[in-house]
Amino acid sequence: MANASGFFTPSVPSLRLRGRIQTPIGIYRTGFLSPEGFSLRVFCSNPAQGSDKLASGSGASSSESRAPRLVSQGCKLVGCGSAVPTLKVSNDDLAKIVDTSDEWISVRTGIRNRRVLSGKESLTTLAVEAGRKALQMAQVDPDDVDLVLMCTSTPEDLFGSAPQIQKALGCKSNPLAYDITAACSGFVLGLVSAACHIRGAGFQNVLVIGADALSQYVDWTDRGTCILFGDAAGAVLVQACDSEEDGLFGFDLNSDGDGQRHLNATIKENEMDNALGSNGSVLDFPPKRPSYSCIKMNGKEVFRFAVRSVPQSIESALEKAGLPGSSIDWLLLHQANQRIIDAVATRLEVPPERVISNLANYGNTSAASIPLALDEAVRSGKVKAGHTIAAAGFGAGLTWGSAIVRWQ
Ligand code: ACO
Repeated sequence: MANASGFFTPSVPSLRLRGRIQTPIGIYRTGFLSPEGFSLRVFCSNPAQGSDKLASGSGASSSESRAPRLVSQGCKLVGCGSAVPTLKVSNDDLAKIVDTSDEWISVRTGIRNRRVLSGKESLTTLAVEAGRKALQMAQVDPDDVDLVLMCTSTPEDLFGSAPQIQKALGCKSNPLAYDITAACSGFVLGLVSAACHIRGAGFQNVLVIGADALSQYVDWTDRGTCILFGDAAGAVLVQACDSEEDGLFGFDLNSDGDGQRHLNATIKENEMDNALGSNGSVLDFPPKRPSYSCIKMNGKEVFRFAVRSVPQSIESALEKAGLPGSSIDWLLLHQANQRIIDAVATRLEVPPERVISNLANYGNTSAASIPLALDEAVRSGKVKAGHTIAAAGFGAGLTWGSAIVRWQ
C-alpha cells in the first residue's frame, strides 16, 4: 500500500534550508534554479511561534490552528465548469432492460437519473465544454493555460485525450497536456498534481479536468453495476498565487493493488494468451489485438472499503493541514452512493446540510463527479469564496485520496 504525504516539499532538497535564510531562488518550468528568480518564502502559522497567517478568507480560527507549512508558491482554485450529455436515463428506463426498480435503486444508492453519451456527443466534447466554462469563470484566456490535466479512465485515444482537449480549447501556446488514470480518484490526484506543478515547477494556470464515460464499459445486462454509472465532465482552473493565499491546505493519497480484484475492467483474459504463431517458428507472436472487458465489481467489498478508508483519509489530510474537522464548510465526496456519503459524513460528524450531493441526478460519473458537484454548488451560490472544502475520491485501483481546499 502506498501513501503520499499532504505536506508539500519542494522538489529540490536544498530549498528548505535556503528558504530559512531567504535566499532568492527562482523555479522555472525546466526545473532549473536561478538566483534572479522570486524569493522562497516560509510561513508558519504555529501560534506558539506567533508568525504569519497561511491563508485568508476561511476564518481566523482555521488559520490559527493550522500547522507550520513550507510553501514557496501558493495555488488556488479560481474557476470551475461542467458538462453532461443530453440523454437522461431514469431508473424506470433501466427497469425496462434489467430486472430492477426505481425503488431498489433509489433506496440502495440514492440515484434516480444518469446522463449517457449519445449521437455525436463525445467525452472530449464534454471535457472541452467543462474546461471552457472553468476558464471563463476564472477569466483566463486559453493561451495563458500552461498545463492541461485530463483525469479519465475512458480516454478516446489510448495514448491520451489531453492534447486533443488542449487543441480544441484553442491554446495556441501548445501547453503541456497529459492524462491521469485513477478512476474515481482521478480528479483529486489531478488537483494535487496541479498544485505540485505550480508550487514546485513555476506553472501558472493548470486546467484540471475530470471526465469519464463509464457507460461505454458497463455491461447493460448486469443490474448490479449498470444502475450506478453515468457520463459527465467537470473542470477546475488552479492558479498560482502568493503563498499567503495558498488554497490547498493538506492532502492524502493512497493506493492498494490488492483490492483491484474487487473492481476492475481488465483486458479480456482469453485475448491475452492467444497467439497467431501457427507455423511453429514464433509462438505467441504477433499477439492479438486485445479489448477491455466490462466493469466487474464486488459492490459489498467496495462499499466496505469506501466507508472504512475515506474518513481515515480525510482525517489524515486535516491533520496534515493542522485543521479541525469543524473547519470544514463542505464535505464533497466522490458521488458513488448516498449511503457511502451519509456514512462518511456521520463518522466525521459533518451535518447533512454541509454535505454536497447531486448523485440523484447523475449517478456515479467517476473522475467527473467531484468537479461536477462543485460546479453546481458554486453556481447555485452554496459554495462561496473562502469556504473550506474536504474533497475525497475513491474507487478502482484501488485508489483513494482527499484534499482540503479553499474555494477562491
Ligand atoms: N435491482 C434489484 N435487485 C438487485 C439489483 C438491482 N439493480 N442489484 C442487485 N440486486 C439484488 C442482488 O441480486 C441481491 O439479491 P439476492 O439477495 O437475491 O442475491 C440483492 O439485490 C442484494 O445485492 P447486493 O449486491 O448485496 O446489494 P448491496 O446492498 O450491496 O448494493 C450496491 C449494491 C448498490 C452496488 C452497493 O454494494 C454499492 O453501492 N457498492 C459500492 C459501489 C461503489 O461505490 N463503487 C465506487 C467505485 S466505482 C469506480 O471506481 C469505477
